[in-house]
Amino acid sequence: MDKILVLDFGGQYSQLIARRVRELRVYSELIPYDTPIEQIKERKPCGLIFSGSPSSLVKNKNNKAPLISTEIFNLNVPILGICYGMQMIAYLLGGKITASGNNEFGRTNVNLDLKSTLFNGLRQNEICWMSHKDSVSVLPKNFKVIASTPSLPIAGFENDKGDIFGIQFHPEVIHTPSGMEILKNFLFKICGCLPTWTMVSIIESQVEIIRNQVKDGNIICALSGGVDSTVAAVLVNKAVGKKLTCIFVDHGLLRYGEEEQVIKTFKKNFKINLVYINAKERFLLKLKDIVDPEQKRKIIGNEFIRVFEEQAKKIKHVEYLVQGTLYSDVIESGTRDAAKIKSHHNVAGLPKDMQIKLIEPLRQLFKDEVRKIGIELGLPEEIVRRQPFPGPGLAIRIIGDVTEERLEILKKADKIVIDEIKRAGLYEKIWQSFAILPIIKSVGVMGDERTYAYPIVIRAVSSEDAMTADWVKLPYEVLERMSNRIINEVQGVNRVVYDISSKPPSTIEWE
Ligand code: XMP
Repeated sequence: MDKILVLDFGGQYSQLIARRVRELRVYSELIPYDTPIEQIKERKPCGLIFSGSPSSLVKNKNNKAPLISTEIFNLNVPILGICYGMQMIAYLLGGKITASGNNEFGRTNVNLDLKSTLFNGLRQNEICWMSHKDSVSVLPKNFKVIASTPSLPIAGFENDKGDIFGIQFHPEVIHTPSGMEILKNFLFKICGCLPTWTMVSIIESQVEIIRNQVKDGNIICALSGGVDSTVAAVLVNKAVGKKLTCIFVDHGLLRYGEEEQVIKTFKKNFKINLVYINAKERFLLKLKDIVDPEQKRKIIGNEFIRVFEEQAKKIKHVEYLVQGTLYSDVIESGTRDAAKIKSHHNVAGLPKDMQIKLIEPLRQLFKDEVRKIGIELGLPEEIVRRQPFPGPGLAIRIIGDVTEERLEILKKADKIVIDEIKRAGLYEKIWQSFAILPIIKSVGVMGDERTYAYPIVIRAVSSEDAMTADWVKLPYEVLERMSNRIINEVQGVNRVVYDISSKPPSTIEWE
């Protein structure tokens, strides 16, 4: 399988580059910039892409800017440097970088040299998207300029051999309309890749990897009923068959009727061993009086693993736990080069002394890619189209402490939100819709009496991959029905508000 490795220097769009390459049907993975050159070579990539970075090679007093060893150029694999990636190529090969003076952010007109294979089929003038402070001011030896803008004489370069390229703008963002054409030229005309990577090939390669990894022994899978863990379970089942047992842990933080629903759907559609564990009490006990969101997430992640370890002992000879972890869970939980936003229970919420080893076949992918695999695997629509629900469940939608009483309020309100979204035919059109229970109370008047009760927050967002999200402009009638029903049907609530914030700067969940 042809493979493009994207070296991550900490740029905002690193993961987007890998994803765009996969959209062009070439397998791609994001790897840390300081992965040993030997390991990169062993993986036999047909091309390398260097990402952007928040670092500067101009203001690099303490040598903190990430650099790759110049040995990378001896691999004779085509390279495309984007933004910082381009500057670093110039820096390493004897060119010069300067602070541009004018920071360039946003749409820019770029003048392209159409003789360069990288720009085959494009127009001489294209719109591109820039986001940089530094730029290349002197080319390395044996390089020529292939792109420029009115304020940036070197917006792109290429070496004489035609296998090292740099562009200062970002082809991976939608604001560079011809960006995909540039990536296509790099993949197909320069690296010689073939567009053969499909959801079928990822299924086949994952099945093979898992088979080779596991050999003897049994495996358990953390099943939540959502698309990620179900796809992971079906993939592993394809690889190891009856050796797999799925464990569905009910932590008491599920939505109204969810336990029965998950078991029913799973049993109806799959012939995979399933064990249901009622762990409501132990989770709620551990969460008692805990108000800090990060603490909640860690307690839940920890407790999940403890339950899985106990089950592993019962089943015997279990070495591996399968999780449906996605790339967005990994990046948000913080990597060495990316800041921590929140500890996803299945990544940064894991205990340090965990005994069981993990298998995470979806760790490099985004949810919409996993949905496509789900369709390929023949999963039913009701699972593939299910809105995401976080592993820590309602605990991170109840601000403040999680009590039975507050859980009950949120479950009822949440059910109304989902019912009304479905009734309006919107469930599959939006990414997520749900209710949140804040810690505050406010004054109201019901039946001539004063009330002092909780508000419910409604949140509905659209998104492609959970990395960014927009609040949905729900019709007023839908909001009105939700509000009336929640206030009338849910005791302890006297007010309903709608969250009109996007991500960033907010996040989808409140905690
Ligand atoms: P945020 O709130 O970070 O959420 O914008 C992004 C997406 O991830 C889901 N989410 C989680 N999923 N474990 C999960 O399995 C977690 O700890 C977790 N935290 C957030 C969230 O529902 C949204 O789809």
